[in-house]
Amino acid sequence: LVNLSEVAAFSVPSYACQRRTTLENHNTVLTDALSLLAENAELSEEDGRGVAFRRAAAVLKALPKPVASMTQLRGLPCLGEHSLRVIKDILENGASSEVESTKQSERYKALKVLTGIFGVGARTADRWIRDGIHNLRQLQDSGPTLNRAQQAGLEHYDDLNQPVSKSDADAIGEVVEKAVVSVLPGAHMTLIGGFRRGKLTGHDVDFLITHPEEGREVGLMPKLVSWLESQGFLLYQKTTRNSYLESKDGPARPASNMDRFERCFSIFKLTKEEKRGTKHPETLTENGAQTPDNGGLDLDLDLDQTKPAGHKPWRAVRVDLVVSPISQFAFALLGWTGSKLFERELRRWAGHEKSMSLSSHALYDNRQSKYLRATSEEEIFAHLGLEFVPPSERNA
Ligand code: CTP
Ligand code: MN
Ligand code: MN
Ligand code: MN
Repeated sequence: LVNLSEVAAFSVPSYACQRRTTLENHNTVLTDALSLLAENAELSEEDGRGVAFRRAAAVLKALPKPVASMTQLRGLPCLGEHSLRVIKDILENGASSEVESTKQSERYKALKVLTGIFGVGARTADRWIRDGIHNLRQLQDSGPTLNRAQQAGLEHYDDLNQPVSKSDADAIGEVVEKAVVSVLPGAHMTLIGGFRRGKLTGHDVDFLITHPEEGREVGLMPKLVSWLESQGFLLYQKTTRNSYLESKDGPARPASNMDRFERCFSIFKLTKEEKRGTKHPETLTENGAQTPDNGGLDLDLDLDQTKPAGHKPWRAVRVDLVVSPISQFAFALLGWTGSKLFERELRRWAGHEKSMSLSSHALYDNRQSKYLRATSEEEIFAHLGLEFVPPSERNA
């Protein structure tokens, strides 16, 4: 007897921004495998392949139940030959030989360890590997010159590779909020990134700051950073100035997908005191409830045996701060909430299906040759001809 409900084919729309993707994933074994191949492609600077695997994983994340057979996948979008082969391997043999051999490969392991250092990207890691540097010990011994970000990244390696909990994010949020209102009364701060999508952990904490009166936000970031620095909250920070208003070609087409807001990439010092100060003490755990997700890698973490990790009264946390003028706030909010694939798909939808250009600053209609204003995310989805997808369902 054939259970028809089991073999019935799934159906999903082709753009991730047309789908509702919650954190409830019924196919984690398959999506973890495809995500690992995506990551490996990205670490090898094969971005096209990376996106293909990310799109395939995102389709499976949107399915209402576990995949039981290949026939159910017929007609699904974004599943290329390669992804289908990986899925088939897992359904038939319980694992994908390609994924397993990638995980075991020295190159993948070295890329993971080295890019695990804040400030080290795929290109730098590749150069180091070619120079025979595969782990942190070899990096310290053979000592290529590290920039300021990489030095801080190496110094706080253990902490920065620990997942950040929601309670940590809330504790940092209270500090940043206090700083924001003391340097600019009336300014607003919003939690963005993965935590806005309802994730319970993240690799960093992201905040968007604005003021209801256009122009009042100018000069806010340096003041905010000074305040935080003077109180000893920043272990590292690099502020990038707003280049958007300064550009002569107007806001339509930024040179890249990188937005041009004033922003600050920082490493925040979260003390036990700040943790206790939060409104949700019941959610606190001494060293964080999670164990670090190192992808099963044997990382060389004990760089300094005299300071055992977890016994100091604070931890380092990556924090991103973005300042937006209120006129661009909805676009910034949408652009910085993620997921990264959801954002990429929104821009692809806008360009390919609507002949519009979407960025974290604005939406431009190429047919009407004009900007489409919006004061909420809902309005932007409406301009794009998409059903509104709330943040918790943008986990593609
Ligand atoms: N983003 C961006 N420009 C960057 C970095 C990030 O526009 N240079 C956007 C991403 O597109 C994403 C959001 O900022 O929508 C958050 O990025 P990130 O913190 O890297 O990812 P999260 O989704 O928050 O995931 P995590 O929990 O791992 O931090
Ligand atoms: Mn479900
Ligand atoms: Mn984030
Ligand atoms: Mn971030």
